[in-house]
Amino acid sequence: MANKNRSQWDLGRFIETLTYFEVVPLINWIQDLFQGRTKDNQNQPNGAKQVGVILVAGATGGVGKRVVRRLAERGYRVRSLVRDIERGRSILGDNTELVVADITNPETLTPLVMANIQAIICCTAVRVQPKEGDTPEREKYYQGVKFYQPEIVGDTPENVEYRGVKNLVEAAAKYLPASGEKILFDFTNPSTEMKNIWGAVDDVVMGGVSESNIQLVEGTALFAGNVSTANSGGFASVRTKNFSPAFNLSGYEGIKLRVRGDGKRYKFFLRADTKWDGIGYSYSFDTIANTWIDVRIPFADLVPVFRAKTLQDCPPIATNQISSFQLMLSKFEYDGELNPQFSPGGFALQVESIKAYGGETLPQFILVSSAGVTRPGRPGINLEEEPPAVRLNDQLGGILTWKLKGEDSLRASGIPYTIIRPCALTEEAGGKSLIFEQGDNIRGKISREDVAEICLQALQQPQACNITFEVKEGEDRANSIEWQKLFAQLQPDSASQRQL
Ligand SMILES: NC(=O)c1ccc[n+]([C@@H]2O[C@H](COP(=O)([O-])OP(=O)(O)OC[C@H]3O[C@@H](n4cnc5c(N)ncnc54)[C@H](OP(=O)(O)O)[C@@H]3O)[C@@H](O)[C@H]2O)c1
Repeated sequence: MANKNRSQWDLGRFIETLTYFEVVPLINWIQDLFQGRTKDNQNQPNGAKQVGVILVAGATGGVGKRVVRRLAERGYRVRSLVRDIERGRSILGDNTELVVADITNPETLTPLVMANIQAIICCTAVRVQPKEGDTPEREKYYQGVKFYQPEIVGDTPENVEYRGVKNLVEAAAKYLPASGEKILFDFTNPSTEMKNIWGAVDDVVMGGVSESNIQLVEGTALFAGNVSTANSGGFASVRTKNFSPAFNLSGYEGIKLRVRGDGKRYKFFLRADTKWDGIGYSYSFDTIANTWIDVRIPFADLVPVFRAKTLQDCPPIATNQISSFQLMLSKFEYDGELNPQFSPGGFALQVESIKAYGGETLPQFILVSSAGVTRPGRPGINLEEEPPAVRLNDQLGGILTWKLKGEDSLRASGIPYTIIRPCALTEEAGGKSLIFEQGDNIRGKISREDVAEICLQALQQPQACNITFEVKEGEDRANSIEWQKLFAQLQPDSASQRQL
């Protein structure tokens, strides 16, 4: 007679589990063949850079479109804020996600535009065009090398350069992760890839009958099910497929989970190899019933385990190649010890986000402003020698004055920022040596290509945090630029400059 405690083991679910995680490539291959599926690599997050989105405002502009192109080329996830979707598509092609908004209207800066952002690059500008009208060749773009009498068309500098930038800064403050944090999964705004990357791994893989699943519910991932100890089982879990390529989290201290549970103790696993049954690095954490909490999981406190047995002499996790995550409710702690908070039956754990924390602070808001913003009305300025925007500031609706106010709103925001003030912009190819200065005194020109590159470089330079600087190109071509050195010579803005 069969053991009364033995419940029916489900072979089908076992195979489903393994197949989902592509542990049995042959079965997948047969299914693909049979069901006519094609491999969808888009369901894999593509490594560290791809995790958070870089939002580019003014993406259809001369600098903005180059920023978008360069970000896409280097594997960033780019979202372009545009006012007109057709225009956006025709200028930017398919390299970028497009969202429609107008920075002068804060109501358009919706979660669709702002969610999941890691940083913002703002290249917006009020429309200035040659008085004779902008020709199809867009002569405006040659103002850096040739002079055309300019005029403002459309919205005012006050609205775009000040109020618009301020609106974007205020929205950014709400949505950007805390400095030093990187969003890995934000379930408040799930992408399709997130839906397809998590799957259940229950004790069915060992003969048990526990059952769980993960669903997107009310802006969270809900890990719920039923844990049974029948058939010597006693765990339920959800695991990601292997990230491809892996997340590089070196430089971070650990993982932060935002969760609401049921008072039970759960485990979170990280893996740094792509083996199905390899070493897991585990951390147990208690939840408080019906209460949102942040759980910090320091990499240094992870316990290396192989099937819940702790491993001695195991190296710390390779944080530069995190390949999968797993959430588990188990009857056991480690080495046969029982989970003190365990009871069989139903359970539920909601996860709002998974972030890396403790990384270095990098600029999160890059603003392309302009050289000359402090010059109108400044004593000792010889207008004859100044560029048109300084000379014509009043006729151009106070363009530079409002740009400075836009800068001020960013400096006072508390967001780590870089403010780039280029001299006259050109459509030339760039690649010249660059001269960075502070104090707003230099005159000259610089290619929009080079300004775009400075924006990208600033994203990666801790030394670029909270600085405001002017830039122009030098005479000679630069074979390579020592970015770190260039940024290191600049002074961060003082506390008084960072107050309104
Ligand atoms: N021209 C120069 O010599 C010079 C010199 C120094 C600094 N700068 C500054 O450098 C930056 C980049 O210049 P650029 O020549 O690349 O600019 P641009 O070609 O004129 O592009 C401006 C961008 O801003 C967008 N925009 C305008 N108003 C907007 C709004 N309300 N909401 C959302 N987007 C809006 C435009 O979108 P649409 O396509 O929808 O119009 C366009 O994409 C600007 O801040 C500019 O002032 C220029």
